[in-house]
Amino acid sequence: MSSFTDLWREISDIGGSPSEGYVRFAWTAVEWELRTWFRAQAKARDLEFEVDGNTTMWATWNPGGVPGPAVVTGSHLDSVPHGGGYDGPLGVVSAFLAVDELRRRGVVPARPIRIAAFAEEEGSRFGVACLGSRLMTGAFDPERARTLTDSDGVTLAEALAGYDFDPARLGPAPLSDVAAFVELHVEQGRALTVPVGIGSSIWPHGRWRMDFTGEGNHAGTTLMGDRHDPMLTYAFAVLAANKEARTHGAHATVGRVAVHPNATNAIPSRVTGWLDARAASASTLDDLLSGLSAKIATRAGKDGTTVTITAESTTGEIGFSDALIERCLTTLGEKTPVLPTGAGHDAGVLSAFVPTVMLFVRNPAGVSHAPAERADDEDCEAGVEALADVLAELACR
Ligand code: GLV
Ligand code: MN
Ligand code: MN
Ligand code: MN
Repeated sequence: MSSFTDLWREISDIGGSPSEGYVRFAWTAVEWELRTWFRAQAKARDLEFEVDGNTTMWATWNPGGVPGPAVVTGSHLDSVPHGGGYDGPLGVVSAFLAVDELRRRGVVPARPIRIAAFAEEEGSRFGVACLGSRLMTGAFDPERARTLTDSDGVTLAEALAGYDFDPARLGPAPLSDVAAFVELHVEQGRALTVPVGIGSSIWPHGRWRMDFTGEGNHAGTTLMGDRHDPMLTYAFAVLAANKEARTHGAHATVGRVAVHPNATNAIPSRVTGWLDARAASASTLDDLLSGLSAKIATRAGKDGTTVTITAESTTGEIGFSDALIERCLTTLGEKTPVLPTGAGHDAGVLSAFVPTVMLFVRNPAGVSHAPAERADDEDCEAGVEALADVLAELACR
């Protein structure tokens, strides 16, 4: 049986390092290494390994050979560019260790326990967050998914085919065989001051692609008054998003930009910026977006540019199952903190379809989606214990 530290070390060199962060994009050679690791973990534990049509990996523990819906736990293995190592993999590693712990306790579950690793949770490669779980639940059209392109112009269908996955198999899967979903995840802000907490809800959030178009021209010869510079409209949009977020008590970020032709001595003809916006309520988020869109449109009029804003993926209000939160509190202690998060998760997608809850492990740095993200080994071990306790509660009674 592995300790947390041993199992964690097995993946800590894959796709990066703790100091530089990790680049673990879906359907790449790096991800394939993680898939190979997952499969080996399943095999080492004599769990039934399976990959479904959405390329989600599953490892099933069903020692009693019982039929019926399973208690599912797990998370994702992909990362944002140069992200921390915990966001995602902690939930998968903890799931394997929780099964070890239940075996050590001599538990024989009355329901199958299944470990899942969903693909493209971050949307780092194809732009749609939680793509694997959205496809599974029918929340994203497989036809549209196949034609998504990455920054190199590779379509998702091509990326899948490169690893012998059949793009025709993308699409909804029966959820009737999922009794409950529990995702353990590193907490991603400064919200948790004890080792383990329980998730209550996820802020409504989304991603919007903002395309600014103007007129490419010479930086030295074009009079300032003659320009139609989309960079100016873009710059206005970034500052306006920040201002709108502050006035609405919300969060807005532009963390990705593409400039064409991206030359120092040329006025760009095109700028694309990606807006990530989140708020405690859907109405606040809507209000933020409509106010911001109007301000950007006015500014584009002044700059002689055009702007189109397209939603790439959006997630509405999500509250986890009250019944599962109650059962987690009974299992882990009534004093266990129950907290919301501004981060998105596959658990958020699944929660609209199956009873879902999350467990959070303390993040002493208060940093995530960056190399400084971390969790202490002792807290991760407490997370495994808590997950084992919750799985025992949900799968044995
Ligand atoms: C996923 O981690 C997200 O919240 O963007
Ligand atoms: Mn993340
Ligand atoms: Mn995550
Ligand atoms: Mn407003």
